[in-house]
Amino acid sequence: MGDRLFKPQNAHKLDDPERQVWLPVVDVIRAIAIRPGTHVADVGAGTGYFAIPMAQAVGPNGKVYAIDLQPEMLSLLREKIKQLDATRNINLAQGEASRTTLGPKCADVVLIANVWHELDDHEAALREAARILVPSGTLGLLDWRPDKNSPPGPPSDHRLPANDVVQFLTKHHWTTAPPVNIGLYSYFISARPPHSAESIST
Ligand SMILES: C[S@@+](CC[C@H](N)C(=O)[O-])C[C@H]1O[C@@H](n2cnc3c(N)ncnc32)[C@H](O)[C@@H]1O
Repeated sequence: MGDRLFKPQNAHKLDDPERQVWLPVVDVIRAIAIRPGTHVADVGAGTGYFAIPMAQAVGPNGKVYAIDLQPEMLSLLREKIKQLDATRNINLAQGEASRTTLGPKCADVVLIANVWHELDDHEAALREAARILVPSGTLGLLDWRPDKNSPPGPPSDHRLPANDVVQFLTKHHWTTAPPVNIGLYSYFISARPPHSAESIST
């Protein structure tokens, strides 16, 4: 992970109000199709840019598991949800994308947002996503477009082309929908695990 790992001293960038302009949360929530009652694992949740609105979207019968490797990021998120009194349906846990600490088949949706390009071991992360997803569940993978030279975000040589990610998922027997662009600088890929009950209509 090394130099690609997001630095906690940059956490304020994740909460920049401008981010809603170039990466609207509502568009991501729509893309992963979460509903009241959905259980979502937000892997690499950071300061909760997605976790908090997702907790509102899934409602009291739903659940958001916010997983992050770095305790500093979890502390920032913990503070934020305390202030918002949004603690009821968000569970925080320190974990690795390849070892989330979550139980098997606990999530209808796994969201990996702006994290995939930071990971060293994509195979292990994918195995873990398959383990924690219900068989009919969905992985939502959001990451930075390499063809956009945007001021926010990682350097272009850290960015992974959407088609390479799709190829990787397909090679590991995940069923993917074609990537779609979200906001100004990101792509989103929806995928179903091997042996899933349904396949994605393309
Ligand atoms: C760029 S931030 C994105 C945060 C959030 N998903 C968002 O889009 O606002 C990446 C986050 O992923 C976390 N992360 C990086 N590698 C991880 C790993 N292997 N397992 C779990 N979390 C990881 C970092 O600590 C950081 O909080």
